This record gives sequence, structure tokens and C-alpha cells, in this order.
Amino acid sequence: DDSKAGVKGLVDSGILKIPNFFIQPPYDHNQKKLDTNLTNLQIPVIDLQGEHQQVVDGIKNASENWGFFQVVNHGVPITVMDEMIKGVRRFNEQDNEVKKEIYSRDLAKRVRFSSNFVLYQSKAANWRDTLTFLMFTPDPLDPVELPAVCRDITVDYTKHVTELGDSLFELLSEAIGLKPDHLKKLEWAQSCVLASNYYPACPQPELTLGAAEHRDPAFLTILLQDNIGGLQVLHQDQWVDVQPIPGAFVINIGDLLQIVSNDKFKSIEHRVLANLVGPRVSIACFLTVCLNMTMKTYGPIKELLSDENGPVYQDFTTKDYIQYFSSQGDGKSGLNNLKL
Ligand code: SIN
Ligand code: FE2
Repeated sequence: DDSKAGVKGLVDSGILKIPNFFIQPPYDHNQKKLDTNLTNLQIPVIDLQGEHQQVVDGIKNASENWGFFQVVNHGVPITVMDEMIKGVRRFNEQDNEVKKEIYSRDLAKRVRFSSNFVLYQSKAANWRDTLTFLMFTPDPLDPVELPAVCRDITVDYTKHVTELGDSLFELLSEAIGLKPDHLKKLEWAQSCVLASNYYPACPQPELTLGAAEHRDPAFLTILLQDNIGGLQVLHQDQWVDVQPIPGAFVINIGDLLQIVSNDKFKSIEHRVLANLVGPRVSIACFLTVCLNMTMKTYGPIKELLSDENGPVYQDFTTKDYIQYFSSQGDGKSGLNNLKL
């Protein structure tokens, strides 16, 4: 089956025009795209080695008003970041036959290569291929299951990026007015999913998108992008480019953190433009719920509620989460299903 070679397989076959199912409806594409770059707005950039209270205030402001920020001086070695990007390129640029072997649309598979697995619920296909590893669910993935071309670096990268995740949860706890260990102590965000995206150069980038508008269903996303660009964040009804900064990570609040923060922190729509130039590589680390447990209960953090500030969401279980969130096509968030 040729579709198992992904978007890259299609490009390599020499097409000059993109197939119709990649064409995004113009209403949500062109309209907002025209606004791009009309402003010089940039998502906040936070130096994690800065003065502590300033860091906490910066994260609070970004989480409330943007849902996105970039971090620099975060402690993850730049060599690890570069090697991870190279590893993802190596995987995607090997023989189609090898990639097809792990092609799967089964979300429970801990290692899978896929392209447009939400196609049947989406308006159009995304111009990207994705390699997904369920690294911790929270039981760790056995490294031998990882593709050999990127195995060692993936293990190393995951160690560093989850440590950064721990620090960010502490800062986010403080930013929301809780003790630093609060979010961690709840042991909610025990799963780590790495989704590596490969966006091939596109012959008609104005007709499609690398990733259609969506919000992330996780607690927190730690994204590494290369220097090509294309990620945009919706801010005050305009698409704002997320400028690639060498050595930086892009951090965004997911739907789960919006829920447990009782709408204080915002999970914001974002998308990725297709590009004549490529490939572009990005690696998203989703810190999310314990995927192997069905009985845990989540909801707005009680310490944040008061008579004047009642819960906006009902409590829910991991099972509800999987039902409401993973069946969604792009752009549709499960968040609203849980509103009281
Ligand atoms: C995504 O949000 O799905 C991917 C982000 C990116 O590739 O920059
Ligand atoms: Fe995303």
C-alpha cells in the first residue's frame, strides 16, 4: 500500500500538483493567513536562568495570555537537540520499505509511523508524516522497540526533555499560585509521548497545511523545531509566527492544564504552514495522563476554587479523557465536552 510511505513517499514519486484530499478549505486558511506578519508580535521568550520571580511572572503572563512561550537556558544540551533532529531525519529518509513496517493507525501501538491518521475525521490531509513513541505510559518503553537509526538519541533526548518538564511543572505550579511541587505531586502527568513530525517540501504550499489548526490535548507540550519555521499561534484573532530561535524550546499549555487550572491557563489553537522549502522537522513531547490507567480522576484543582471561583469543568477519568480527546479530528477539542 503506497500510502504507507507517507507524504514523503508521495513527494518522492515526483508529483507537481498535490492530490485533492490535501487541499484545505479556503475559509479557515486564507482568511487568517492574510493577517500573518501584519504585526511584529512574538510569543514571549523566557530565560530560565533569569531571576526566579521574574521567570515565574513571565510564565504566568505567557500561560494566561498566550498559551505559548519559548524557553532558553533550559539546561538541555544543544548537541542533544541537534542530534534528535538528525535522528528523525534519518528515520524519515531511509527506505520506504523500512518505514512501512512500522506504519500503523492503531493509537495503542507504542511505536508507530503514520501519516494523517485523523484523515477520516478531518477536513483535509496534513502535509506531514509523524513518528510516534509512547516513551512512558508511565511504564517505560523498552528501547529495543525503537528504530535503530534513532534509538540512542531518543532515549537520551527523552531523559533531558522530561527533566525540563519537571522544572516547568514546578514553575507552572508557582505561576498559578500553588506550592512548587503541587502539579508533580498529583502524579497526573506521568505519560510522555514523543511525536516527531517530518514536513516535506510542498509544490503547492498555499493550498494545504503542514498541520491544520488544533489544540493539544496534553497537559504540556515541549516542542523542538528546526530553523525552517511555519508554526503559527492564534493570538487576538491573528496568526502569529513562532520564530525559530536556535537552542530554544517552544512550550505550550494543553487542554488538560487549562482544565485543571480552571481556565486560568489557556490551551491555544495553532497550526503549521506548508512550505516550498523543506523538509522541516519538529519533535513534540506531550506530557499527558497515565495512559495505562482508567480509574484516575482529574478535574479543576480544589485549592484554586472558591465561592467566587467555582469549577468550570466536571471531574473526569482517564477513560473519559481518551474517549473525548483521542477521537477528535483536528481543530475540535474535547475540552468543551467537559464544561459544566
Ligand atoms: C503540532 O502542533 O502538531 C506541530 C507543531 C510543529 O510542528 O511546529
Ligand atoms: Fe500541536
